Amino acid sequence: MMMLLLKVVGKMKVLVTGGAGFIGSHVCDALIARGDSVICVDSFNDYYDPKYKRSNVSQHLSDEDFFLVEQDITCFDGLKKVFDLHKPDKVIHLAARAGVRPSLSDPFLYERVNVLGTLNLLELSRLFAVKNFVFASSSSVYGGNDKVPFSEDDPVDNPVSPYAATKKSGEILCYTYHHLYGLNVSCLRFFTVYGPRGRPDMAPYLFTKWILEGKPIRRFGPGSSRRDYTFVKDIVSGILAALDKDLPFEIFNLGNSATVELNRFIEVIEGILGKKAVIEQYPEQLGDVPVTFADISKAEKLLGYSPSTKIEQGMRIFIDWYLKERAEQEGLRVSAQDRA
Ligand SMILES: NC(=O)c1ccc[n+]([C@@H]2O[C@H](COP(=O)([O-])OP(=O)(O)OC[C@H]3O[C@@H](n4cnc5c(N)ncnc54)[C@H](O)[C@@H]3O)[C@@H](O)[C@H]2O)c1
Repeated sequence: MMMLLLKVVGKMKVLVTGGAGFIGSHVCDALIARGDSVICVDSFNDYYDPKYKRSNVSQHLSDEDFFLVEQDITCFDGLKKVFDLHKPDKVIHLAARAGVRPSLSDPFLYERVNVLGTLNLLELSRLFAVKNFVFASSSSVYGGNDKVPFSEDDPVDNPVSPYAATKKSGEILCYTYHHLYGLNVSCLRFFTVYGPRGRPDMAPYLFTKWILEGKPIRRFGPGSSRRDYTFVKDIVSGILAALDKDLPFEIFNLGNSATVELNRFIEVIEGILGKKAVIEQYPEQLGDVPVTFADISKAEKLLGYSPSTKIEQGMRIFIDWYLKERAEQEGLRVSAQDRA
């Protein structure tokens, strides 16, 4: 009885934007699992197939603590109605146009969703006295910095893609709302997140798909670029820690703090699938950076963040999921042995 009472009193209403996306849906799972109430706001745009986003949250649709709202964050009035109705205690703002390369061909769309959308959420969080605002930023704000690992104190004034510039702009707006109105904000710079429900435009997903299909992997550059790959479960633990701490204003790196060379990353997938990749060579792409590497000491100290998933482990979990849940929808024939 006492336990039940504590659970009811302690229940938080958390508005999660982009809640049907890759990271967002895992955040929703974790909040629901610990007994919080979730208002999941998503526009289900077609950056990738929205049926995947719908399936990411389908398991919660009959849950009384889960409210799915189909809403575009660029529409202030529509968003205000959501705040009016649900009066969230806290906000986790993950909705964005997320790809780096596509931001070069449609910078206006990126600016509208990632900057105006963020401003709408900050303004409403101020108006509705939200207790804490967690903002999804990105390692891409470090641009071509060559001092590694990247630390939150490093200069980030030279973003090399419109996407990175919008994330930096989001951080600046977050600071302004903290400064002017005392809004608690944590900006989290995610480093290449992967795992089940992963984005179909990202390397872990594409390389797995292409190797299975026997199609060539489009490798940009010689394969010596390095990424700090972070398993989604570890990212979610960092997001919830920032949500619970209610810190006044902080910026945190959330990475794995270990880099993997592109060629090694391909080898890991080949090893798990038991199949060699065919490589098709392309020159380096504008907007790409040679290395991402997170110094996570600040998150370890202030959030108790402690990522524990190595790339071999995490990619095995991802590929198991891909073979069971996604391969057939992608038109691939998967044997029962592969799926087991
Ligand atoms: N996945 C990564 O490696 C990574 C790395 C750094 C930062 N991030 C950031 O983390 C966040 C989540 O990324 P993800 O990988 O889960 O991407 P995702 O595309 O799977 O999720 C984003 C979700 O936001 C929704 N959305 C987009 N525009 C919207 C709008 N105008 N209104 C309402 N909803 C909208 C999309 O429909 C989608 O479901 C993003 O802000 C992204 O920039 C991701």
